[in-house]
Amino acid sequence: MKKALAFAAALALMAGAASAQQYPTKPITVIVPFAAGGPTDVIARIVGESMSKTLGQQLVIENIAGAGGTTGITRGKEAVNDGYTIMMGHMGTHGAAPALYPNIRYNPVTDFEPIGMAAGTPIVIVARKDFPASNLKEFADRLKAGQDKLNEANAGVGSVSHTTCTLLHVQLGTKPTRVPYTGTGPVLNDLVGGKVDYACDQIVNLVTQIQAGAIRAYAIATPTRSPALPDVPTTKEAGMPEYEVSAWNALFAPKGTPAPIVARLNDALSKALDDANSRKRLLDLGGVLPEGNERTSAWLGTFVAAEVDRWGKTIRAAR
Ligand code: MLT
Repeated sequence: MKKALAFAAALALMAGAASAQQYPTKPITVIVPFAAGGPTDVIARIVGESMSKTLGQQLVIENIAGAGGTTGITRGKEAVNDGYTIMMGHMGTHGAAPALYPNIRYNPVTDFEPIGMAAGTPIVIVARKDFPASNLKEFADRLKAGQDKLNEANAGVGSVSHTTCTLLHVQLGTKPTRVPYTGTGPVLNDLVGGKVDYACDQIVNLVTQIQAGAIRAYAIATPTRSPALPDVPTTKEAGMPEYEVSAWNALFAPKGTPAPIVARLNDALSKALDDANSRKRLLDLGGVLPEGNERTSAWLGTFVAAEVDRWGKTIRAAR
């Protein structure tokens, strides 16, 4: 009996190794836990296009929005761990969410196989183009003066936009009306349309509309200006040095996805970040690309654990 079990186990291992060697033999679903057109979706589509060429199979984006991204990530956690369903998570879903959702149905640290970091995304404070403030100080004064009459748009509790604007409100002592959307793609549409007043959003979603003058940018919350937005001052230059925050987007697979498959996906992602076309598109949108060790799956796993800890402390302190 023992020999039969050992033989069966060996067969299963060999089958697993064979399937990993042949992987992928069909299209790969990439869950994006927000509406199409937003920063997470745009990053997923840019790297996905290049990864499809490297892997020889289409990466097909599936937008599953809701609950600040936790709905889509929960779906990804529960997917079959065969390498044919992966997901684009970020600083909200895999950093802030556990502190904001007591009944969250996944653990960002233990329920996933980290594949790799795709892009860092500095946060920019933006408003509708006719917002009555000509700089960050006037913007802050307006928020303090008319806080309950102003609408801040975000992608729901736990999202990057919600989390980073919460930080802004804590620092300014403001309590605006907060309007949740299924992603900051739709947020941007309403900012351009003047239907909401302001947002804290990831630069890759905003560069085109800021350059077109369709929305106003008051400051970028990073120590130095972005090459993609050279005229937008840092929060430090604009008088709010305490407001410094950046987000990130990274690929994950369900726990138990075979290591050789995770390695293939990590390699394809790294090649996407070196591909001239996808690299240029991400940089032109203000993305900050990982280099060297920051591209490894191991680095992402350690980073996510640190982010969950950091944002948990920040959010509990803000209560
Ligand atoms: C999106 O893609 O809509 C954003 O990443 C949502 C968010 O603000 O977290």
